[in-house]
Amino acid sequence: MPLENMKAMLNNAAGDSYAVGAFNILDYNSTKAVVQAAEEANAPVIIQTSAKTVIFWGAAAIISWVKQLVASSSVPTALHLDHCKDLDLIKECINSGWTSVMIDASSKPFEENLALSRQVVQMARPKDVSVEAELGAIVGVEDDIHVKEQQAHLADPEQAIKFCAEVKPDCFAPAVGTAHGVYKGKPKIAYDRLEEIATKTKVPIALHGGTGLVDEVFKKCISLGCAKVNISTQLKYAFIDGFVAYHNAHNTEYNPLKVIDAQFNELKAGIIEKIKLFGSAGKA
Ligand code: 13P
Repeated sequence: MPLENMKAMLNNAAGDSYAVGAFNILDYNSTKAVVQAAEEANAPVIIQTSAKTVIFWGAAAIISWVKQLVASSSVPTALHLDHCKDLDLIKECINSGWTSVMIDASSKPFEENLALSRQVVQMARPKDVSVEAELGAIVGVEDDIHVKEQQAHLADPEQAIKFCAEVKPDCFAPAVGTAHGVYKGKPKIAYDRLEEIATKTKVPIALHGGTGLVDEVFKKCISLGCAKVNISTQLKYAFIDGFVAYHNAHNTEYNPLKVIDAQFNELKAGIIEKIKLFGSAGKA
């Protein structure tokens, strides 16, 4: 199937109380794991790239392996650029074939965030590319965006309503207490705020900082309006652990293709588990 944007898949998910998994890929093997996991679970899926990953491989290489893998897949798949502050890179991804982009101007003052996000929506619409925008500051490190605990702040519901009314994003990422990376303590999720923002903005919500949340937290957030769940750190761990565990167990073998296959299986198993947990299995 050709790539599609996130609009229909997120609206379907929001209307049916499940969420589509958005998995940050690292290379060809991890992309193949996302695509095959979604295919096996018969689930819509979002292949997500950090700005750093795009810069590392180049947009042309990524789009060519993504298109090749998705061509033989039968489930709805979007290619989404995660947290990006750089309008030139957003433009490059849109022109290269990404079907969805995220503008992260959340570190800017409210009016500036609103203006930049609106600018990206105007850039994306003519190409039928969906847009995610963020409000508030999500704690932790994602790509080259570092937010310390003291700098983190939750999205304000009144601002969220104004922001979504004026920007009209296809997906909205309000900071509601989750964190990127590994949780140090028990996360405190502002469920009331999440519910209020989801109900009043009527925009499918993206839950950032998925790695490390327990099943009940995912389920509650999804029931309150989260239609997209971002998972990145889990894939980074599986990428390294799958590789190292195989090599440690067969340390005289030096057979790279077997190591790559072990890494693929580790990645795919974790992705399928999350797809099932988010309720999107069987929804393709
Ligand atoms: P984790 O790294 O905590 O899974 O968060 C991913 C994310 O939100 C990417 O934007």
